[in-house]
Amino acid sequence: MLVINKENLRNKKVLVRVDFNVPTENGIVQDAFRIENTLPTIELLKSVGAKIILISHIGKTTNYNRDQSLRNVIDTATNTYKSKIVFIDDCMDENAGSIIDNSSVDNIVLMENLRFYQNEENCDFEFAKRLAKLADFYINEAFSVSHRKHASIFALPQFLPHALGLSFVREIRTIDNFFADTSSPKMCIVGGTKLSTKVNLLKNLVKKVDKLAIGGGIAGVFSSFFGKLYLDCGKNEYERDVIEIAENANKYNCELILPIDFSALIDTERCNDAKIFDIGPNSVELFKSHLKKSKLLLWNGPVGLFEKAPFDFGTMSIAKEVSQLTQNGELTSIIGGGDTSFAINKFNMAKDMSYISTAGGAFLSYLEGRELPGIFAMHLSDSQFSLDHTLLT
Ligand code: 3PG
Repeated sequence: MLVINKENLRNKKVLVRVDFNVPTENGIVQDAFRIENTLPTIELLKSVGAKIILISHIGKTTNYNRDQSLRNVIDTATNTYKSKIVFIDDCMDENAGSIIDNSSVDNIVLMENLRFYQNEENCDFEFAKRLAKLADFYINEAFSVSHRKHASIFALPQFLPHALGLSFVREIRTIDNFFADTSSPKMCIVGGTKLSTKVNLLKNLVKKVDKLAIGGGIAGVFSSFFGKLYLDCGKNEYERDVIEIAENANKYNCELILPIDFSALIDTERCNDAKIFDIGPNSVELFKSHLKKSKLLLWNGPVGLFEKAPFDFGTMSIAKEVSQLTQNGELTSIIGGGDTSFAINKFNMAKDMSYISTAGGAFLSYLEGRELPGIFAMHLSDSQFSLDHTLLT
C-alpha cells in the first residue's frame, strides 16, 4: 500500500464514504459502533483543517422515508465527533456545493441517504460524478459496504484522488494478519443458519487454518454425513460441497470439529426434517477444549439462536470462554459478521475481545477471498490522478 501524507489534505474538501447503516428506533440510534469507529479518520481530517463531507446509506430503500433518513444519526454524530452537523436534505441538491463552501470548517457536512436515489445501487457514474464535484478528495471509510458495487463505493473514487480510511485499513489488516500469522493452532468457528451462505467461506478457510469448528444450523448437514445424526436437513443438496470441504480438510491438515449434540426440534412427519436451534452442552465442552489449545481465533456466525433463551446457551458459553482466554492473553480473538458482533455486544463482552469487525457481508466476502469492489476501485485510476494512494496516515 502507498502512504499518503496527511498534509496533502490540508484545507481540502474531503468526501468521506462512511457506513451509518445503524439500527434506529423511533429516530434514535441503538448502536453507535459504526459511527464511533470512524472517529480517528474524522479527527485526522480536522487536524489538517479539511472540510469534511460525510456520505452514507441507511437501510434498503429507494424512496424517501423518515425511518431511513440520516437525520436520525445527527445527534449521535454530533456527540461522537464534537462538531456541529450541517445536514443536506438531498444529496443531489443543486445548492449542495454552496452550502458546503459556506459552512465553517469546524462543522461537518452530512448528506441525506444516498439510497434515496436508485442511481446509488445502480452504480451510476453520472451520479458519482456529481458527488465528486463537491470535493477535492475521496476517502472510503466504509469497509462494511465495500462488497457492494455501488456508485459511492466503486464509481466515485474514479473521479477523485482517493484513499482508504484508517478504520477500513484496520479491518483488512486484521484479517490479513490473521491469515499471515504463523502462530498455531489457528482456529475458526463458523456458525449460522443457512449453509448456502457459508459454503464458500468454509471452502476457503479449510485450506488456511488448523481447526475449523462448525456450529449452528449449518452443522446439521455435516453431522448428518460424518456424525451420528440421521436427518435430512439438506444433506443431498450439499453432498458435493461437504465432501470437497472434508477432502480438503484432510489434504490441508485442518481438523474439522463438528458438534456431537444439538438442541433441535425434529419434525417426524417430514421425514426426519430437523430444525437445529443450538449446539448441545457436550459440543460446547468440545469447542472449549479446542479453544483452550488455540492461539488465534476467527469467529463468524453464532452457533445457535442466541436471540432466544435457552438457545443462547451455546453462543454465550463459547463467547465466555473466548473472552476469558483473550483476557488472560492466551488467545487473539477476531469476531466478525453482523449477527456474531451483535451477539457479543448483547452479552456485553465486546471489550473483552481482541477485535470486532463493523462488517457483516463484507467481512464474509473478504474471508471468502473475493475481490471487494471498494478495494478494487482504488486501483483503477492510477494513471489519472497525481494523488492516488490507498492508505491514509
Ligand atoms: C451492512 O450493514 O452490512 C452494510 O451497511 C451493507 O448494507 P446492505 O446489505 O444493505 O448493502
